[in-house]
Amino acid sequence: MLTHHHQDHVFGVKEIILSYPNIPIYGPVETKKAGTNIYVFNHDVINIMNLSITVLHTPGHTEGHVCYLSNPYFFCGDTLFSGGCGYTKYENLLDMFNSLKLISKLKNNTAIFCSHEYTKHNIKFFCSILKKNKMLNKFLKLIENKKRTVPTVLKKEKTINMFLCTNKKNIKNYIFPKLNVSEFDFFRYLRIKKNNN
Ligand SMILES: [Fe+2]
Ligand SMILES: [Fe+2]
Repeated sequence: MLTHHHQDHVFGVKEIILSYPNIPIYGPVETKKAGTNIYVFNHDVINIMNLSITVLHTPGHTEGHVCYLSNPYFFCGDTLFSGGCGYTKYENLLDMFNSLKLISKLKNNTAIFCSHEYTKHNIKFFCSILKKNKMLNKFLKLIENKKRTVPTVLKKEKTINMFLCTNKKNIKNYIFPKLNVSEFDFFRYLRIKKNNN
């Protein structure tokens, strides 16, 4: 099951097909060249080995990016990371904002299987912006010696992942005191800053 067309997510597919020529490869249309033979679309339901897996279109990192949800397991590719989200081009920022909003509406106990272990880097970045944030600094200390921080849980991400906290006034006011900044503008500010980090 492919989430998007980037090489670090599809590079092994051709080799798998060599060994298993009839294997079903699910993916969005943008993964066509990688060898996908079953295209998936928003809200499709795939049944594999007694599991029911729902496809969610989550554009932003790429236009056709999809995530796979089989409650409580959520495979979200490069959309959401622990403490962060995937790289987003300027013109796709609104798409990413909406995709993260969609994810934040999933059940709190959703297990987030993201594709990269970027947690420390992400938290350090937000600590550098929100210098006095006790909770983030405490979390950073907690994971400092951990080799692995994923999978994570949505409920936890709603506290440590600033891209999911754009609705929190205290955080917004810390960065933009006395300014009326919309949630999307706040997200845009954070993501652009991260793109240049
Ligand atoms: Fe990617
Ligand atoms: Fe990736």
